[in-house]
Amino acid sequence: MSSQRHFLGIEGMVRADLEALLSRAREHKRSIEAGFRKTPLAGRVVANLFFEDSTRTRSSFEIAAKMLGAEVLNWSTRGSSVSKGETLLDTVRNIEAMGPLAIVIRHTSSGAPALCARHVRCAVVNAGDGMHEHPSQALLDALTLMEKLGGLDGRKVAIVGDVLHSRVARSNLHCLIKLGAQVVLCGPPTLMPSGIEALGARVTYDLTAALEGADAVMLLRIQLERQGESMFPSAREYARSYGLDAARAARLEEGAVVMHPGPINRGVELAPDVADGPKSVILYQVTNGVAVRMAILEACA
Ligand code: NCD
Repeated sequence: MSSQRHFLGIEGMVRADLEALLSRAREHKRSIEAGFRKTPLAGRVVANLFFEDSTRTRSSFEIAAKMLGAEVLNWSTRGSSVSKGETLLDTVRNIEAMGPLAIVIRHTSSGAPALCARHVRCAVVNAGDGMHEHPSQALLDALTLMEKLGGLDGRKVAIVGDVLHSRVARSNLHCLIKLGAQVVLCGPPTLMPSGIEALGARVTYDLTAALEGADAVMLLRIQLERQGESMFPSAREYARSYGLDAARAARLEEGAVVMHPGPINRGVELAPDVADGPKSVILYQVTNGVAVRMAILEACA
Protein backbone atom coordinates (compact mmCIF):
# COMPACT_ATOMS: atom_id res chain seq x y z
CA MET A 1 0.00 0.00 0.00
CA SER A 2 1.17 3.53 -0.60
CA SER A 3 2.71 5.34 2.32
CA GLN A 4 0.22 8.17 1.69
CA ARG A 5 -2.48 6.27 3.54
CA HIS A 6 -0.54 6.35 6.79
CA PHE A 7 -1.11 9.32 9.06
CA LEU A 8 2.11 9.61 11.02
CA GLY A 9 2.86 13.27 11.54
CA ILE A 10 2.12 16.80 10.41
CA GLU A 11 5.79 17.47 9.66
CA GLY A 12 5.73 15.41 6.46
CA MET A 13 2.46 16.86 5.17
CA VAL A 14 1.86 19.85 2.93
CA ARG A 15 -0.73 22.57 3.39
CA ALA A 16 -3.03 21.07 0.73
CA ASP A 17 -3.13 17.70 2.59
CA LEU A 18 -4.07 19.47 5.81
CA GLU A 19 -6.73 21.56 4.12
CA ALA A 20 -8.24 18.53 2.39
CA LEU A 21 -8.60 16.69 5.71
CA LEU A 22 -10.00 19.79 7.42
CA SER A 23 -12.56 20.35 4.71
CA ARG A 24 -13.64 16.68 4.88
CA ALA A 25 -13.89 17.03 8.68
CA ARG A 26 -16.20 20.03 8.19
CA GLU A 27 -18.41 17.92 5.93
CA HIS A 28 -18.54 15.18 8.56
CA LYS A 29 -19.46 17.75 11.19
CA ARG A 30 -22.34 18.99 9.06
CA SER A 31 -23.60 15.42 8.47
CA ILE A 32 -23.41 14.65 12.20
CA GLU A 33 -25.32 17.85 13.02
CA ALA A 34 -27.94 17.05 10.38
CA GLY A 35 -28.30 13.52 11.76
CA PHE A 36 -27.34 12.18 8.35
CA ARG A 37 -25.15 9.10 8.41
CA LYS A 38 -23.14 7.35 5.71
CA THR A 39 -21.20 4.22 6.55
CA PRO A 40 -18.32 3.98 4.06
CA LEU A 41 -16.31 1.78 6.43
CA ALA A 42 -19.07 -0.80 7.03
CA GLY A 43 -17.54 -4.25 7.31
CA ARG A 44 -14.07 -2.85 8.00
CA VAL A 45 -12.19 -2.97 11.30
CA VAL A 46 -10.24 -0.19 12.99
CA ALA A 47 -7.83 -1.47 15.65
CA ASN A 48 -6.97 0.92 18.49
CA LEU A 49 -3.61 -0.08 19.99
CA PHE A 50 -2.92 2.08 23.01
CA PHE A 51 0.38 1.37 24.75
CA GLU A 52 -0.17 4.53 26.84
CA ASP A 53 -3.18 5.89 28.73
CA SER A 54 -5.77 8.01 26.99
CA THR A 55 -9.24 9.35 27.64
CA ARG A 56 -10.13 11.64 24.74
CA THR A 57 -8.03 10.34 21.87
CA ARG A 58 -9.02 6.70 22.18
CA SER A 59 -12.73 7.38 22.71
CA SER A 60 -12.70 9.87 19.87
CA PHE A 61 -11.10 7.44 17.39
CA GLU A 62 -13.58 4.78 18.52
CA ILE A 63 -16.60 7.03 18.02
CA ALA A 64 -15.23 8.28 14.68
CA ALA A 65 -14.74 4.72 13.43
CA LYS A 66 -18.23 3.70 14.54
CA MET A 67 -19.81 6.75 12.93
CA LEU A 68 -18.27 5.57 9.65
CA GLY A 69 -19.76 2.10 10.18
CA ALA A 70 -16.51 0.31 11.11
CA GLU A 71 -16.07 -2.30 13.83
CA VAL A 72 -13.58 -1.30 16.52
CA LEU A 73 -11.02 -3.40 18.33
CA ASN A 74 -9.85 -1.72 21.53
CA TRP A 75 -6.54 -3.24 22.53
CA SER A 76 -4.52 -2.02 25.49
CA THR A 77 -1.22 -3.12 27.02
CA ARG A 78 -2.92 -4.25 30.21
CA GLY A 79 -4.02 -7.86 29.81
CA SER A 80 -2.02 -8.34 26.59
CA SER A 81 1.01 -10.52 25.82
CA VAL A 82 3.28 -7.47 26.16
CA SER A 83 3.61 -8.62 29.80
CA LYS A 84 4.94 -11.93 28.42
CA GLY A 85 7.68 -10.15 26.48
CA GLU A 86 6.04 -9.82 23.06
CA THR A 87 7.61 -7.00 21.03
CA LEU A 88 5.82 -4.03 19.50
CA LEU A 89 6.33 -5.33 15.97
CA ASP A 90 5.12 -8.83 16.81
CA THR A 91 2.04 -7.38 18.48
CA VAL A 92 1.28 -5.14 15.52
CA ARG A 93 1.94 -7.86 12.93
CA ASN A 94 -0.43 -10.20 14.76
CA ILE A 95 -3.19 -7.62 14.90
CA GLU A 96 -2.58 -6.86 11.21
CA ALA A 97 -2.97 -10.57 10.38
CA MET A 98 -6.60 -10.26 11.51
CA GLY A 99 -7.23 -7.87 8.65
CA PRO A 100 -7.96 -4.38 10.00
CA LEU A 101 -8.22 -1.40 7.67
CA ALA A 102 -6.11 0.70 10.00
CA ILE A 103 -4.16 0.40 13.20
CA VAL A 104 -4.33 3.47 15.43
CA ILE A 105 -1.27 3.52 17.70
CA ARG A 106 -0.38 5.49 20.79
CA HIS A 107 3.03 4.70 22.22
CA THR A 108 5.44 6.11 24.79
CA SER A 109 8.32 5.96 22.26
CA SER A 110 8.76 8.62 19.60
CA GLY A 111 8.77 6.98 16.17
CA ALA A 112 6.90 3.80 17.17
CA PRO A 113 4.02 4.31 14.68
CA ALA A 114 6.49 5.09 11.85
CA LEU A 115 8.39 1.90 12.66
CA CYS A 116 5.16 -0.12 12.53
CA ALA A 117 4.16 1.52 9.26
CA ARG A 118 7.30 0.09 7.64
CA HIS A 119 6.29 -3.44 8.62
CA VAL A 120 2.57 -3.71 7.92
CA ARG A 121 0.40 -3.37 4.83
CA CYS A 122 -2.59 -1.75 6.55
CA ALA A 123 -2.70 1.98 7.30
CA VAL A 124 -1.06 3.20 10.50
CA VAL A 125 -2.41 6.24 12.32
CA ASN A 126 -0.34 8.01 14.97
CA ALA A 127 -2.44 8.74 18.06
CA GLY A 128 0.52 10.27 19.91
CA ASP A 129 4.10 8.96 20.04
CA GLY A 130 6.32 9.93 22.96
CA MET A 131 7.49 13.53 22.69
CA HIS A 132 7.28 13.49 18.90
CA GLU A 133 3.85 14.16 17.32
CA HIS A 134 0.12 14.02 17.99
CA PRO A 135 -1.13 14.90 14.50
CA SER A 136 -4.87 14.33 14.99
CA GLN A 137 -4.79 16.73 17.95
CA ALA A 138 -3.16 19.42 15.80
CA LEU A 139 -5.82 18.99 13.13
CA LEU A 140 -8.70 19.25 15.59
CA ASP A 141 -7.05 22.32 17.09
CA ALA A 142 -6.71 23.86 13.62
CA LEU A 143 -10.38 23.16 12.87
CA THR A 144 -11.37 24.76 16.17
CA LEU A 145 -9.24 27.85 15.51
CA MET A 146 -10.54 28.26 11.97
CA GLU A 147 -14.12 28.08 13.19
CA LYS A 148 -13.63 30.33 16.20
CA LEU A 149 -11.31 32.90 14.60
CA GLY A 150 -12.63 32.71 11.04
CA GLY A 151 -9.25 31.65 9.63
CA LEU A 152 -5.61 31.11 10.52
CA ASP A 153 -3.66 33.31 8.13
CA GLY A 154 -1.72 35.91 10.14
CA ARG A 155 -3.35 34.87 13.43
CA LYS A 156 -1.16 34.76 16.51
CA VAL A 157 -1.29 31.59 18.59
CA ALA A 158 0.58 31.35 21.92
CA ILE A 159 1.50 27.84 23.07
CA VAL A 160 2.36 27.95 26.76
CA GLY A 161 3.87 25.36 29.09
CA ASP A 162 5.99 22.25 28.87
CA VAL A 163 6.89 22.58 25.20
CA LEU A 164 9.93 20.33 25.59
CA HIS A 165 7.94 17.17 26.35
CA SER A 166 4.82 18.00 24.36
CA ARG A 167 3.94 16.14 21.17
CA VAL A 168 0.87 18.37 21.00
CA ALA A 169 3.10 21.47 20.82
CA ARG A 170 5.28 19.96 18.09
CA SER A 171 2.37 18.88 15.87
CA ASN A 172 0.58 22.17 16.44
CA LEU A 173 3.68 24.15 15.59
CA HIS A 174 4.06 22.37 12.24
CA CYS A 175 0.35 22.58 11.49
CA LEU A 176 -0.21 26.21 12.44
CA ILE A 177 2.82 27.42 10.52
CA LYS A 178 1.84 25.46 7.40
CA LEU A 179 -1.62 27.04 7.66
CA GLY A 180 -0.20 30.56 7.85
CA ALA A 181 -0.45 31.38 11.57
CA GLN A 182 2.26 32.95 13.74
CA VAL A 183 3.29 30.82 16.71
CA VAL A 184 4.78 32.07 19.97
CA LEU A 185 6.12 29.44 22.34
CA CYS A 186 6.34 30.29 26.02
CA GLY A 187 7.43 28.40 29.11
CA PRO A 188 10.29 28.10 31.59
CA PRO A 189 13.70 27.89 29.85
CA THR A 190 14.18 24.35 31.23
CA LEU A 191 11.02 23.22 29.41
CA MET A 192 11.83 24.86 26.05
CA PRO A 193 13.66 22.76 23.43
CA SER A 194 16.80 24.54 22.28
CA GLY A 195 16.76 25.62 18.64
CA ILE A 196 12.97 25.30 18.27
CA GLU A 197 12.93 28.76 16.61
CA ALA A 198 14.35 27.01 13.53
CA LEU A 199 10.88 25.50 12.99
CA GLY A 200 9.47 28.99 12.55
CA ALA A 201 8.24 29.91 16.04
CA ARG A 202 9.12 32.87 18.23
CA VAL A 203 10.19 31.95 21.77
CA THR A 204 9.64 33.98 24.92
CA TYR A 205 9.99 33.11 28.60
CA ASP A 206 7.63 35.90 29.60
CA LEU A 207 3.94 35.02 29.68
CA THR A 208 2.73 38.63 29.45
CA ALA A 209 4.73 39.10 26.24
CA ALA A 210 3.38 35.82 24.83
CA LEU A 211 -0.23 36.81 25.50
CA GLU A 212 0.14 40.30 24.05
CA GLY A 213 -2.00 40.46 20.91
CA ALA A 214 -2.65 36.69 20.92
CA ASP A 215 -5.78 35.46 19.13
CA ALA A 216 -5.54 32.12 20.91
CA VAL A 217 -3.66 30.66 23.83
CA MET A 218 -3.05 26.96 24.10
CA LEU A 219 -2.01 25.71 27.53
CA LEU A 220 0.05 22.56 28.00
CA ARG A 221 0.22 20.22 30.96
CA ILE A 222 3.56 19.70 32.71
CA GLN A 223 4.36 16.18 31.49
CA LEU A 224 5.81 14.87 34.73
CA GLU A 225 5.81 11.31 33.38
CA ARG A 226 8.37 12.34 30.76
CA GLN A 227 10.72 14.20 33.14
CA GLY A 228 13.54 12.32 34.78
CA GLU A 229 13.83 14.97 37.46
CA SER A 230 11.74 17.98 38.28
CA MET A 231 12.46 20.74 35.79
CA PHE A 232 10.53 23.46 37.58
CA PRO A 233 10.49 24.54 41.23
CA SER A 234 6.92 23.77 42.34
CA ALA A 235 3.39 23.68 40.94
CA ARG A 236 2.52 26.83 42.89
CA GLU A 237 5.49 28.73 41.53
CA TYR A 238 4.83 27.45 38.02
CA ALA A 239 1.21 28.65 38.23
CA ARG A 240 2.38 32.07 39.39
CA SER A 241 4.73 32.52 36.41
CA TYR A 242 3.09 30.54 33.62
CA GLY A 243 -0.46 29.67 34.66
CA LEU A 244 -3.38 31.35 32.91
CA ASP A 245 -5.46 32.80 35.73
CA ALA A 246 -8.53 35.05 35.57
CA ALA A 247 -6.50 38.28 35.75
CA ARG A 248 -4.28 37.29 32.81
CA ALA A 249 -7.23 35.92 30.84
CA ALA A 250 -9.08 39.23 31.31
CA ARG A 251 -6.25 41.03 29.51
CA LEU A 252 -6.58 38.81 26.40
CA GLU A 253 -7.87 40.37 23.19
CA GLU A 254 -11.61 40.55 22.66
CA GLY A 255 -12.58 37.34 20.85
CA ALA A 256 -9.40 35.48 21.85
CA VAL A 257 -9.89 31.82 22.75
CA VAL A 258 -8.38 29.60 25.45
CA MET A 259 -7.49 26.03 24.46
CA HIS A 260 -6.12 22.92 26.15
CA PRO A 261 -5.67 19.42 24.73
CA GLY A 262 -6.50 17.84 28.10
CA PRO A 263 -5.97 16.40 30.62
CA ILE A 264 -5.98 19.69 32.54
CA ASN A 265 -4.12 20.05 35.80
CA ARG A 266 -6.55 22.61 37.22
CA GLY A 267 -4.88 25.36 39.17
CA VAL A 268 -1.45 24.66 37.65
CA GLU A 269 -1.33 25.68 33.95
CA LEU A 270 -4.95 26.82 33.93
CA ALA A 271 -7.22 28.27 36.62
CA PRO A 272 -10.55 26.41 36.94
CA ASP A 273 -12.63 29.56 36.33
CA VAL A 274 -10.76 30.20 33.06
CA ALA A 275 -11.03 26.54 31.98
CA ASP A 276 -14.80 26.78 32.44
CA GLY A 277 -15.09 30.45 31.46
CA PRO A 278 -16.48 32.18 28.37
CA LYS A 279 -13.19 32.27 26.43
CA SER A 280 -12.62 28.53 26.82
CA VAL A 281 -13.20 26.34 23.75
CA ILE A 282 -11.78 23.22 25.39
CA LEU A 283 -14.86 21.03 25.05
CA TYR A 284 -15.44 22.34 21.53
CA GLN A 285 -11.96 20.99 20.69
CA VAL A 286 -13.10 17.59 21.95
CA THR A 287 -16.26 17.73 19.81
CA ASN A 288 -14.19 18.60 16.73
CA GLY A 289 -11.93 15.62 17.42
CA VAL A 290 -14.59 13.19 16.23
CA ALA A 291 -15.10 14.80 12.80
CA VAL A 292 -11.35 15.22 12.27
CA ARG A 293 -10.71 11.57 13.11
CA MET A 294 -13.53 10.50 10.78
CA ALA A 295 -11.68 12.33 7.99
CA ILE A 296 -8.39 10.68 8.98
CA LEU A 297 -9.84 7.14 9.14
CA GLU A 298 -11.77 7.56 5.92
CA ALA A 299 -8.55 8.57 4.15
CA CYS A 300 -7.04 5.22 5.21
CA ALA A 301 -9.49 3.27 3.00
C1 NCD B 1 -2.26 14.96 25.24
C2 NCD B 1 -1.40 13.77 24.93
O1 NCD B 1 -1.66 12.65 25.37
O2 NCD B 1 -0.47 13.98 24.20
N1 NCD B 1 -3.59 14.72 25.44
C3 NCD B 1 -4.41 14.39 24.39
O3 NCD B 1 -4.19 13.46 23.66
N2 NCD B 1 -5.49 15.16 24.18
C4 NCD B 1 -1.62 15.94 26.15
C5 NCD B 1 -1.15 15.49 27.51
O4 NCD B 1 -1.04 14.33 27.83
O5 NCD B 1 -0.86 16.42 28.29
